[in-house]
Formats: sequence, C-alpha cells, structure tokens
Amino acid sequence: MYQLKINELSEQAFLNQYWQKKPLLIKGGFSDFKDPLDANELAGLAMEDSIESRIITNHNQQWQSHQGPFEDFEILTDEHATLLVQAVDHWHPEAAQLLEPFRFIPNWRIDDLMISYSTPGGGVGPHLDQYDVFIIQGEGKRHWRVGLPDPTLKQFAQNKSLLQVEAFTAVINCVLEPGDILYIPPGCPHEGYAIENALNYSVGFRAPNQQDLLSSFADHIIDTESGQKRYTDHTLALRDSKGELTQSEVDKVKTLMQALLEDESLFKHWLGNTLSQPKHDMDLAPEEDPFSVEQIQQLLENQVTFERLGGTRAIYQCMDTELLLSINGENYALPLSDLEAVKQLTDFIEFDSSVLNATTPSLDFIETFTTLVNEGIWFS
Ligand code: SIN
Ligand code: CO
Repeated sequence: MYQLKINELSEQAFLNQYWQKKPLLIKGGFSDFKDPLDANELAGLAMEDSIESRIITNHNQQWQSHQGPFEDFEILTDEHATLLVQAVDHWHPEAAQLLEPFRFIPNWRIDDLMISYSTPGGGVGPHLDQYDVFIIQGEGKRHWRVGLPDPTLKQFAQNKSLLQVEAFTAVINCVLEPGDILYIPPGCPHEGYAIENALNYSVGFRAPNQQDLLSSFADHIIDTESGQKRYTDHTLALRDSKGELTQSEVDKVKTLMQALLEDESLFKHWLGNTLSQPKHDMDLAPEEDPFSVEQIQQLLENQVTFERLGGTRAIYQCMDTELLLSINGENYALPLSDLEAVKQLTDFIEFDSSVLNATTPSLDFIETFTTLVNEGIWFS
C-alpha cells in the first residue's frame, strides 16, 4: 500500500489550493518508494498487442515517435529514449495500487496509470496535456520544468504523433527523486528529461469536453431509440418573409432538444454508461464455469475476499426510486436499500464478504454481482 503525503497539506487543502489551479512539487510524497515493476516488465507489457505503447527518441534534437507493440527494444537506446505504456493498471495489479492514494478524487475522474521508462536525456519534450496529472518518480532521477498556462504559447507537431509546445518560463524547476511527485493541472506546459535511467508513473484524469459529451449522448439516443419526438407547429401563422426562421421557432427547436437532456432517467443512464466506459482493453477472464446466484450467495456467506479487476470503472448515481450502478460501461438498476452494498463495489478495490453480507443485499444485487463475477470483473 502506498501512503500519500501532500507536503503539509490535507487532501481538502490540496483540492482548495492546487487542484486545477496551479502545479505543485510534492517532495517525498511517497516515503521509501518501491517500484511496483521494473523496466524489463514494462518492456514485456509493451510487446503485447492489446496494450498501447510508444517509444520516443530525441537524438541530436530529432524527435521520433514509434508506436508499439514492440518485438525488440533496439530503438530504446542507452540515452535520449523513452518507452511509454498506457493503462498499466489494467494489467499489473501491483502497479494498479499506485492509483489508490489518489482516490480522494472521485472514481469517475480518474483515468489510468501510464508508466514511462527513460534513459538519460530521454523525455517526450515540452508539451501541454488537457488533463490533470500526478507524475510520480520511481527509480532514477528526472529533471522537470513546469510552467503556468499561457494562451500565447504555440503548439506544433514535431511529427504526426508528437505535439509539443514552444519554450516556456518555468515556475517549478526541480530534479525528482524516488517518491517525489509533481502535480500538473491541465494546460500547464511541462518537460522532463531523465538524468539517470528513470521510471515515472503518471496518474491521469478524465474531463470530457462538450464535443465528447454531446456526441456520446447522441450515440446513446440512437442506441436506445429515444428522442423520437418531432418538431410540431399547429399554431403556425403567416409571416412577411418566407425565408425567416423566427426566434420563437429557434427556441422551440432548442426546447425540443433540451427536453432530452432534462429527461433525468435517460440522462443518468447515458452518463453512467459513458463515464464508466474504460478507454483501454481489460485483462478480462470470464468464468469458464459460471457461478449460479445460489453459489455466489453461499460464497458471500463464507469468509471470502473479493478483488476488483484492475482498470474497472465503478460509479453509482442515486435516482428517485433506484440506484444506478455503472460498471465498465454497463448499467445495473438496484433498489435504494442496496446503497451500502453498492459502495463495497465502487469505493473499494477489494472487500470482505462478511462486510457485504452485513449490509443485507437484495436478491437483485446478488444477481448483478453474480453477473459481474462471471464476467471476471470481481474474483475471489
Ligand atoms: C513521462 O514522460 O513519463 C510523462 C509524460 C508527460 O509529461 O505527460
Ligand atoms: Co505530460
């Protein structure tokens, strides 16, 4: 277990003073930091088809980006190279533990754990990210510079898959040592170059933009065949100009569209579905011999620890008459009385069956949990 210490700040004070506001160097955020994996293991993951990885090199100021999976690591040279592997929390349970200290930020905002291995001089160059990130220093040392958001900074493509930003003024200029952490809010330019072979762990966050939300909402409307109500105008009156689309007609179209956004059930089902959707493959191993509801009931009555598969996105919403549990893009409606049982699934990466049983879960809950166990999302 990793224990996070945010300098002298409480988690709430960090949220008030720094979260989405300004970058922060957290010196010794994890004391006696132990890497959950080494560079060889990371390279092993980068050989897998289902895992997204890149190698970026910067020899003689020439930036090159290579997409994984990799069969060998010749291009990961002794200097000026970085291997980056996305969503390692989906595949490596020990590495996934690094997300846990950051759960004071809600599940739905947490994205995944990206891990990089850089050789001296290696990095991805100066750039901006759209999302908050905590960059944890593992093995080795890396020199980081972080600036404040500056709308005049120009971004440019070093090559087609590497967007960088022009030179910026640093407000943090530091060498990270094992256990140190940098918090970088969205839009703050930053660059980090390894001083010695370095492992870095990036805890990334999600923040959908309007385009993401509206296009996903439109998909949901189509999938659920909702939104069939059509524009009507039984009060149509003659007007001077045939060409005019009047303000009241504009307003009526907007109202027609807004009615869908205001449909609480449709909106929450869509939101649960979209926000719980993993962006990367999962290491799913469905039960070959599925459990029956009775068998799960029995397991729950024994002392069993259930673990949650790495990368699982688990959130719930309270509705008027039911709870909506959303797991990895699927929604499950449950009675309001299951709130404490649902929290065992969403708020913990493992739980003890006796704790769950003490909440007296409904049969609906046990049925849902049976489905989730059979899919391999929880396992004992
Ligand atoms: C890294 O190179 O480990 C982190 C990349 C980043 O700054 O986003
Ligand atoms: Co970055």
